[in-house]
Amino acid sequence: MDKHPLLGLLILLCWLRGESLRPTAAPSSLTSVFLFSYEAMEVIQCRMCHLQFPGENCSRGRGICTATTDEACTVGRMFKKNGKPWLTFMGCLKNCANVENIKWSTYLVNFRCCRSYDLCNENI
Ligand SMILES: *[C@@H]1O[C@H](CO)[C@@H](O)[C@H](O)[C@H]1NC(C)=O
Repeated sequence: MDKHPLLGLLILLCWLRGESLRPTAAPSSLTSVFLFSYEAMEVIQCRMCHLQFPGENCSRGRGICTATTDEACTVGRMFKKNGKPWLTFMGCLKNCANVENIKWSTYLVNFRCCRSYDLCNENI
């Protein structure tokens, strides 16, 4: 990954933050757009578990993974057709999107994504 554009944006961010403390502040909406992209660029850690059944501890692949800037922490949950939880997996996922009830064979699958803090996918 080319780090230089990232560094440039960080410098811009610091400049904007410093600027926003002055009376001639940039509109706060502009500042928050930059703050948001700053947050999205942080590398964070995610809980990883390849396989977990309801009411049990992680049975396979428990650990921690590092989400790069284009990845997020995710929890995938699979349900049986009757709505009963079947299994859960957690990890780092590129282009993560929150989706509900995708049909997969005779199961329904949900994905949740977060990158707000380290191990955030333990609580979503
Ligand atoms: C999960 O692991 C913890 C700590 O290792 C243990 O105390 C607990 O009994 C386990 N829970 C189940 C449901 O196996």
